[in-house]
Amino acid sequence: MTSAEIRQSFFDFFKEKQHTIVPSASLLPQSPGLLFTNAGMNPFVPYFLGVEKAPFDPPRAADTQKCIRAGGKHNDLEDVGYDTYHHTMFEMLGNWSFGDYFKKEAIEWSWELVVERWGLPADRLYATVYAPDKAKGDPGEFDQEAWDLWAELFRSKGLDPRVHIVDGNVKDNFWMMGETGPCGPCSELHVDLTPNGDSHGQFVNGDSDECIEIWNLVFIQYNAEADGSFRDLPAKHIDTGMGFERACSIIQNTKGFTDFSVKPSNYATDVFTPIFRKLEELSGKKYANVYPAPGADRSAFDDEMKTAIAFRVIADHLRTLSFSIADGILPGNNGRNYVLRRILRRAVRYGRQLGFSGEKTFFGALAGALVEQMGDVFPELKAREAAVRVTLEREEASFNETLDRGLKRFEDGLSEVKDHTLSGEVAFELYDTFGFPVDLTELLCAERSLGVNMQRFEELMEQQRDRARAAQKSTVVRALDISTNAVTEFIGFDADEVDALVLEVHPQDDSLFVITDQTTFYAEMGGQAGDTGILVIGALAHDVSAVQQIGSARAHAIPADAVVKAGDTVKLRVDHRRRRPIEANHTATHLLHWALHEVVSSDATQQGSAVDEDRLRFDFNSGPLTPGQIEEMEELVNEKINADEPVSWKEVPHAEVKERSDVMQFFGDKYGEKVRVVQIGGEPGTLTGYAMELCGGTHVRNTRAVGIFKIKSEGAIASGVRRIEAVTGERTWQFLRELLVSIEEEAVTMRDKLAAANAKLNSLGEEPVDVGDLPRIIYEALVQQRDVRKINEVIKRSRSKLEELKEAVINAEKRFKKLQASSAAKQADAALALLIEKGESIVTAVESDGSLLQELLNGLKKNQFAEAAFLVVDDGEKLHLGCYAGEAALGRGLKAGDLLRELAAIAGGKGGGKPDMARGAAPDRDKLEELEAAARLKLGVS
Ligand code: SER
Repeated sequence: MTSAEIRQSFFDFFKEKQHTIVPSASLLPQSPGLLFTNAGMNPFVPYFLGVEKAPFDPPRAADTQKCIRAGGKHNDLEDVGYDTYHHTMFEMLGNWSFGDYFKKEAIEWSWELVVERWGLPADRLYATVYAPDKAKGDPGEFDQEAWDLWAELFRSKGLDPRVHIVDGNVKDNFWMMGETGPCGPCSELHVDLTPNGDSHGQFVNGDSDECIEIWNLVFIQYNAEADGSFRDLPAKHIDTGMGFERACSIIQNTKGFTDFSVKPSNYATDVFTPIFRKLEELSGKKYANVYPAPGADRSAFDDEMKTAIAFRVIADHLRTLSFSIADGILPGNNGRNYVLRRILRRAVRYGRQLGFSGEKTFFGALAGALVEQMGDVFPELKAREAAVRVTLEREEASFNETLDRGLKRFEDGLSEVKDHTLSGEVAFELYDTFGFPVDLTELLCAERSLGVNMQRFEELMEQQRDRARAAQKSTVVRALDISTNAVTEFIGFDADEVDALVLEVHPQDDSLFVITDQTTFYAEMGGQAGDTGILVIGALAHDVSAVQQIGSARAHAIPADAVVKAGDTVKLRVDHRRRRPIEANHTATHLLHWALHEVVSSDATQQGSAVDEDRLRFDFNSGPLTPGQIEEMEELVNEKINADEPVSWKEVPHAEVKERSDVMQFFGDKYGEKVRVVQIGGEPGTLTGYAMELCGGTHVRNTRAVGIFKIKSEGAIASGVRRIEAVTGERTWQFLRELLVSIEEEAVTMRDKLAAANAKLNSLGEEPVDVGDLPRIIYEALVQQRDVRKINEVIKRSRSKLEELKEAVINAEKRFKKLQASSAAKQADAALALLIEKGESIVTAVESDGSLLQELLNGLKKNQFAEAAFLVVDDGEKLHLGCYAGEAALGRGLKAGDLLRELAAIAGGKGGGKPDMARGAAPDRDKLEELEAAARLKLGVS
């Protein structure tokens, strides 16, 4: 069977067992606390927790799910390429029961598919069951039920269950998605791959490629809580995961289970071979299917082995990067984006092994082969092929630059080497800053007969991991205590208020959760903030502080002391002062999304959005926008607002709009059978608008209600991901007012600075700098305009005037400094002439700054002035004092330092220096005459 046939046969089998086949969800996880979707069960977490009902009848599903295990709890990165069966990205085939069938069917069907349908010899199969160590406080009990079920199956083939069923500890047989979330005991199927199939189970869970796990059946029944406890879930579920590449490997490498003489490898399947062929073509090297012995010395590999490993690492990493980018997760500096960047860099570094020098990129060129092979099963790859290629090329090119800089840092680091060992700090810096995997650093060192202080490196790594772990634990999945089958109808698209019947009341920590038959309250979803408001019982109104969706029911949180019971009729009223601006911001978000596609590119995919009563936030994939593009979008959106366009919505079967490229929807999002299309423009409800989007949120009825739209900021939040923050209506005016006030304030400050600089110029007899009137924008006049184009004009004019003003200040100050310097130089020349040519010894009351004094002293020295001199420069605030003793004066026993000290004291100052030259300063400027007289006396001049 080809890999495509194997995948299909899995689907067919479970379709026969009444499972709905669903597409893979995005690699971007919905559960908080996960870096990537790391298991097939992630997208179904709400069904397991009971906060949503599975929309399948019967509640069963099967799929193939893209998973990444690199960074976070499940992490296989370091093994990739060195063995036959670990990957950073893989497909997980799974079948699911949401509160429907449990252990018996899950176990029997797995046997039926693998043994009966695919024909895997039962004597090569081993099953593990959960055996907790109660002394260590492991959760749950020994899984006798699973043991009995497996035993019956093995016995039916004449096999001894005591050999073929192996106990597993909490690490291997209790499955958890992360620190928190749905979990439970599991049973795994392992396949003996030894040539004769006679390992008797000795390699099970032994981390060996001679016996590998292919299918994990998890019996989900608890939620791991943040406090470490395990809470029973409202229902029991089945979550199974079969490693698709492993299944392909075992089937294809054994010629359909008939020949086990060659050790199977996931890489020796048609999942990987097309990528290897392309890589061979690009590099001119040949791939050999060779693997190192476990634990072998990695630095002693020969060229063939190193090349084989590089091929595998590159192919594996290509898949991870391409699938992620297609799902909109790009390499970057933080969290999951950083994990991707590191993986890409590893791949690029391994590329050097294949002779790619870094002058040209190779990684992006491989994407085509992958898309060709996988594009049918994962259409998002095809749709975003160009984006994938461009991103890979850009990242690779930029790392090639870092790689060379890192090599330079490494060379510099060699000078710090002690005891033939490179410090852990340098190795960590190379890893952390330059993206050098530590084995590259080790290799570079080995070539110079040096070691690396790995202990220190590991310490630093551990510190970094601690920081990452701490950051990850900050978000938790919490199971609700409430389980309900109630159904609440949402009628808040058109109304703010409704009389509703109370169906259930659930006391929670410090509030009551009231579930009603209908509601106008929106629960936070799809980025739109939930409503607040009041719930009125009789004459009493209670604040509704939050709304929570539980399955198909909606609960309103009111204070715990309210008196309300099932059967009561209550009035629910949404706070419309909050709801209206939220709606305006939501409609504006759709308009912005549309304008982005018009102005920038239809490839600028939405990454996330959030709207509340104060603002809207929109994240998307793109390079930086130009100021022109931002303005153009702003104008387009406002044009549509002013055009009085109707906003309407309609529920339609998803199938009807699935293929329509004019209806914006997101790959990887799980849509129900019915979807709501929000349409702007066109005939209401006919899907003929210009901006149409699948959306469950609430909106204004006419674009005019948005008022006015203004972008506050645009910037990067990760490499290739931009964020726009914008405001509408009243908030726009508030923003504009603040903006104008800040421009004016800055202008006033600048005007004062200019006046000061002009005054100084004036003191030198210079013309002042004039830039005309200050920018003055009358806010009220701006409000009158109500036209964003004109408003932008005014803001631009004000800003450019402000810039002009700033420049004038800088110029005036520069001019003054220059003039001052040249006047000081002139004064110094004149003073020197007095001293040297006229034989004066005392020069005082020169008005200048302190620098003149030094110039004078230097001038005297340069001219070998033989006599003594006393100098005073008055800068208007204090007196700068200088004393000089030339050769003749020194010969007479005069000491400049002593003299200066004595004289400075007269004007309340201090100073000192050497016998030939001394400086000081004194604050009492009115003592100038006294000072001069004393100096004359001391120097014996009249
Ligand atoms: N959640 C289990 C796993 O990932 C089975 O799907 O192994």
